[in-house]
Amino acid sequence: MKPDSVYITTPIYYVNDKPHIGHAYTTVLADVLARTERLFGRDTWFLTGTDEHGQKVQEAAAKLGVTPQEHVDRTVQRFLEAWKRLEIRNDDFIRTTELRHKLIVQEILQDLYDRGEIYRDEYDGWYCVPDERFFTDKDLAEGRCPLCGREVQRVREANYFFRMSRYQDWLVEYIQTHPEFIQPDFRRNETLGFLRKPLQDLCISRPKSRLAWGIELPFDADYVTYVWFDALVNYISAIGYRRDDAQFARRWPAIHLIGKDILTTHTVYWPCMLKAMGLEMPRTVFAHGWWLSGSTKMSKSLGNVVNPMDMMERYGVDPFRYFLMAEMAMGQDATFTEDAFIRRYNADLANDLGNLLNRVVSMVGKYCGGRLPAPAPGAFESGPAADLLAQAQAAAAGMKTSLDTFSLHAGVAQVIEVVRATNKFIEAQQPWSQARAADPAPLHTTLYAAAESLRICAGLLMPLMPGKMTELRAALGMENPMTVNPDELSKAEVLPPGTEVAPPGALFPRIEAPVPGPSDATAPAADAPKPAADKKAPPPGTIGNPEGVITYDEFAKVQLRTAKIMGAEAIEGAVKLLKLNVLMGEERRQIVAGIALYYKPEELIGKTVVVVSNLAPIKLRGVESQGMLLAASKGERLRLVTVDGDLSSGAVVK
Ligand code: MSP
Repeated sequence: MKPDSVYITTPIYYVNDKPHIGHAYTTVLADVLARTERLFGRDTWFLTGTDEHGQKVQEAAAKLGVTPQEHVDRTVQRFLEAWKRLEIRNDDFIRTTELRHKLIVQEILQDLYDRGEIYRDEYDGWYCVPDERFFTDKDLAEGRCPLCGREVQRVREANYFFRMSRYQDWLVEYIQTHPEFIQPDFRRNETLGFLRKPLQDLCISRPKSRLAWGIELPFDADYVTYVWFDALVNYISAIGYRRDDAQFARRWPAIHLIGKDILTTHTVYWPCMLKAMGLEMPRTVFAHGWWLSGSTKMSKSLGNVVNPMDMMERYGVDPFRYFLMAEMAMGQDATFTEDAFIRRYNADLANDLGNLLNRVVSMVGKYCGGRLPAPAPGAFESGPAADLLAQAQAAAAGMKTSLDTFSLHAGVAQVIEVVRATNKFIEAQQPWSQARAADPAPLHTTLYAAAESLRICAGLLMPLMPGKMTELRAALGMENPMTVNPDELSKAEVLPPGTEVAPPGALFPRIEAPVPGPSDATAPAADAPKPAADKKAPPPGTIGNPEGVITYDEFAKVQLRTAKIMGAEAIEGAVKLLKLNVLMGEERRQIVAGIALYYKPEELIGKTVVVVSNLAPIKLRGVESQGMLLAASKGERLRLVTVDGDLSSGAVVK
């Protein structure tokens, strides 16, 4: 592993598909990670591309009356255009129909065949045409394809097989001894679970009589290569394997970002293929979750399904990229709704970040003639300005760490915390009062420190929102607003005093659009008025139905489930409340809880708590709460009820 060189890949997308949120997410994630790695000075390479062979392409081309190559040359444009629109800055784009790729696949096949890693055998079993996969009798689900549920065909034919089974023991050991290899942890367990069953050899050929659109086997012209064997090789053919040793040595091994549905191909087939080739394993295969549209408020029948790509057109590329990164905790599923988008946009970007810039430039305009003032000497050695800058510098360190721990969302949340802290710092220092004092030094320090903190935050958010952050840094008068120098993120006093700042304007205008959302119905949070039933319980053993005692059936109406806290933030103007973003199984919920006096938002992230899940929603201080947390309180203390040990979210509490 070369710690200073990072090679990030996305899956190569089926060229037949139209780019959708799933593709967009992995590609933006890879782009943001690559830009952030570069920001911290690492030698980075970012590859994406398209998977262009296979049955579906052949069929689609036949329907249109064009050759498969003509078809893919046309459809690949949709991906190229989408990535341009999304500001993706990949270093290379590989298509599996390119000669540079096809030749390498053939060389690998020939080499494995020559070394006895590939053999010919008679195959007798079931085949699913749409999935292009073989199954044994045992694999079938009620006689149908276990993957898609469609009909399967009985096939008896000669094929070529890769001796994958011989690597099973080695692979299990490798996975167990290399915890960084498959992430997150629970995906590692999933692969190990899969490897508990005997591993079969992998059929890597398809007879041309059935499928002609593929890479011909170099040792048998009647066959083409199985699409997955072809596709996985893209990760090495694109960086000069067998062609450019220096480039290959500099880039490999990769960090593969994938969706959870293609875990087996990447953590079983691919490692076995690499092992047979004598190559090092990928540094990490990171499987992210899915974007769901499964909230009750969104359904086709209601006609309100949101197309995320439309949202990008409506609200802009940068906010869309920001939302994808901030809303999905890496590895978990998330729900995409316009409501959630607008809330996050208004909260993080309009109210916090955009507002902070506007405050700073307006006050510099009003009190300092539009030029950045000089801070008082020693202002960054101790005191509130120094503390603020220290927090911003810690966020820079946090962002760097989040790259290595695959928790970019947490790194981003830390930056937004600094933005909020800067707004609070302004409120605490009261520059409008400082401006009335005879000594201008405190006012100048306040405004300069706020601008410096903003500069660091904008630098850290540059990989997510390159256009908007360039505008922000230009508004602070920076000379090269697009270029973030890694050193400037850990320093104070980078902005030259005297620099002219921009006049105020709205970087992120608030979205006032009516948001289709849950009704204003009620649901108590921890600080909401307690229901009348909150009376003293009778002593244990009381018979009958004295006051306060409920029947078993009454209790059974209350549904309690575990939920993992993915995000927590303060609510403006509500000192006791925190807005929590929790994951309950595959469902996301927002819960407003009266726990702000007892917990800091950052302490809550990752806790598995117990939630009353069937409570009608309520609005508290205008913010919707979709459930209630259980907490124990005595006197001055309050502690959340949490789950002891490792249990996934969404579990029923009984
Ligand atoms: N061509 C193969 C990959 C070969 S890589 C050697 C493939 N392509 S795909 O176009 O179907 O999917 C690409 C990626 O999109 C997968 O990682 C998949 O998980 C991801 N997504 C598809 N729908 C998704 C969501 N709704 N949400 C998030 N990602 C999902 O598989």
